[in-house]
Amino acid sequence: MKLVEKLGMTRSTPELYEKIAPGPGLDIHAFHNIKSLVHTRLVDLLDFSAIEDVPDATLREWIRDVTRDVSSSEKIPLNRKEQDVLISDVVDEILGLGPIEPLIKDNTIQDILVNNFKNIYVEKSGVLYLTPIQFRDNAHLMQIIDRIVSSVGRRIDESSPMVDARLSDGSRVNAIIPPLAIDGPMLSIRKFGYTPLTLEDLISKNCIVPQIVEFLSAAIKSKLNILLSGGTGSGKTTLLNVLSAFIPKAERIVTIEDSAELQLQQPHVVRLESRPANMEGKGEVSLRDLVKNSLRMRPDRVIIGEVRGAEAMDMLQAMNTGHPGSISTIHANSARDALSRLEVMVSMGAMTISETALRALTASAINIVVHLARLPDGQRKFISLSEITGMEGGIITIQDLFVFDQEGLDASGNVFGSFKATGIPSVFSEHINRSGIKLNRDIFNFNRGIGK
Ligand SMILES: Nc1ncnc2c1ncn2[C@@H]1O[C@H](COP(=O)(O)OP(=O)(O)OP(=O)(O)O)[C@@H](O)[C@H]1O
Ligand SMILES: [Mg+2]
Repeated sequence: MKLVEKLGMTRSTPELYEKIAPGPGLDIHAFHNIKSLVHTRLVDLLDFSAIEDVPDATLREWIRDVTRDVSSSEKIPLNRKEQDVLISDVVDEILGLGPIEPLIKDNTIQDILVNNFKNIYVEKSGVLYLTPIQFRDNAHLMQIIDRIVSSVGRRIDESSPMVDARLSDGSRVNAIIPPLAIDGPMLSIRKFGYTPLTLEDLISKNCIVPQIVEFLSAAIKSKLNILLSGGTGSGKTTLLNVLSAFIPKAERIVTIEDSAELQLQQPHVVRLESRPANMEGKGEVSLRDLVKNSLRMRPDRVIIGEVRGAEAMDMLQAMNTGHPGSISTIHANSARDALSRLEVMVSMGAMTISETALRALTASAINIVVHLARLPDGQRKFISLSEITGMEGGIITIQDLFVFDQEGLDASGNVFGSFKATGIPSVFSEHINRSGIKLNRDIFNFNRGIGK
């Protein structure tokens, strides 16, 4: 089957199609064949350890020469466009991440999901697209996964078949391979590096409104402890990055993550990243170890990128004992669910603490839970801001200050509804006031319709 016909079978965005399509007439197997011959010839000719210092234009010229040689010796004529595509592919192969390199460079793509070597999806503006891009085979995909993982000093093999890593631009990577991944190696990349969303972006996209931002800014400056909750890909980390701008510049911030993806703008940020065990099962440094260690680093704020396990207990204790002003994210379906998940996480740390004591600790440690969601139309939206007000009859009491009320979907499937204040004033008004911040009273009384 001709490559162009093959491409026609898959749904793809026109730009992706343009990027990988060689000229008409060339068989995809012949194309892969010649590419791999060029690659092998280059391996013989070049010193790969010094290749990163070679200017791009020179490297391309070398590859063009080799390509001409190979194409004439193999009697596979290539037109100019096919040569260009082949050269770009080979450059990506040598210096980058092979066939997915153009996706990495494309700033409009947010997620790259490699389900198997020939099934690659991307997410653009909240919508998933199948791309026509493919790896040659599983071994080829595995080679690229290895390259990513080893560049951050981690490894992936049968005994340790899943790993978190990141790309040099800060994008977050997860790789999982057989036997856990049944149909071959899989790769999920959450791109983060290029154009992080700003507060202005979130407001102009109607993800959140200025009144709620004003309250959050006051909460952060007055060092309340905040948990950002939501489903996967609901925009928690993005909001954390954006909100971190409200942390005063003079503070020393310690960030703790499994795979560093936070991009704080402050001058005084020290970043810690956990480490999985090595081949002999030794050397693991967990989030929990890092939280404990961070408290000895004279932090003004400790920011845990995502709480997901036993470190929850250390986080709650730190929040309660002299390290307020923490912000973290958690996977949960609602504000209340976030609190029950914290309980489960604490119990993962095998702590023997009664349920009531644990709830009391949570209620006094966490002040605010902001819940986010990814709506059916792909939008990420603020859903609620709740305050923890205390305990009653063994249950943590919470109250909503602001909510997004989804009223329906318009004709093109976009969500409409309104952001509103519930009219309840914050229990932390006094605390915020004492920190020298004047809250505008109007923010507790507004109703703003969006869409329709
Ligand atoms: N308000 C927004 N509008 C549009 N896109 C957004 C918005 N917030 C986040 N995104 C995009 O959605 C993707 C997921 O965002 P983010 O990583 O912040 O989510 P998350 O909830 O932390 O995900 P995870 O659960 O995987 O950690 C990113 O590509 C990000 O650029
Ligand atoms: Mg996240």
